Amino acid sequence: MATPSNFHRIVVDDPAALANAAAERLMRRIDANPGRIAICLAGGSSPKQLYRLLSTDPFADRIPWERVHWFIGDERFVAAGDPLNNMAMARSIFLDSLAPSANIHPIPTDTAGPDESALRYERELQAFCGASRLDPARPLFDLVLMGVGPDGHTASLFPDDPALEEKTRWVVGVGQAHVQPFVPRVTLTLPAFSSCREMLFEIAGAEKRAILTRLAAGENLPANRARSAAETVWLVDRAALGGEPS
Ligand code: 6PG
Repeated sequence: MATPSNFHRIVVDDPAALANAAAERLMRRIDANPGRIAICLAGGSSPKQLYRLLSTDPFADRIPWERVHWFIGDERFVAAGDPLNNMAMARSIFLDSLAPSANIHPIPTDTAGPDESALRYERELQAFCGASRLDPARPLFDLVLMGVGPDGHTASLFPDDPALEEKTRWVVGVGQAHVQPFVPRVTLTLPAFSSCREMLFEIAGAEKRAILTRLAAGENLPANRARSAAETVWLVDRAALGGEPS
């Protein structure tokens, strides 16, 4: 498969090095924008080490907290305080102690269902950027963080799910998750995710080896379709890479 020039794979030794590299890339995006910054966080367990790093110096001290807004790329349809809630995880690790509450933008789950949550979050994103259409000249996010699931899903974009084909909506409800936890989801769509200056995947651990091999072979899976219009980076550790040459 031909590799586009705006896609890079960076190999690091282990999860600690991966979190450090992710934090440095996040800082680079923050430093490049003297105005209001928008970062779209990921759920799952992969970004936890990065979030812990951001909660401590030197990173906590370097982040201009008043200027940074934190969004979430997908949410499990559970209460805001539920331990399964993706934003609750990020809030408890670093946001609640460091970010102004007005800068934290969770996907609401106190609604009639995931479709209503999706509509409300889409409106919130549109109000934030002051536009109802995505504009390639003004990306929604400075940085989007992503993880990869065992079936090649990313965010809550699952293989063969209609949400993957969405072209106009920014956020949609997903009735059924294909992996645990089996609760309905709310997810940004591929066009919304692509509207960023950088999309950064964190892929670590031997349990990711099988899916990484399939992705590297170019299989048509959600994680291979999620790309930034500007720059996409896969941060991969050696355990995930297995025997593959780096
Ligand atoms: C979620 C996530 C999901 C996650 C991948 C990887 O809500 O579960 O947003 O897309 O990023 O499943 O999960 P791990 O990081 O736990 O391996």
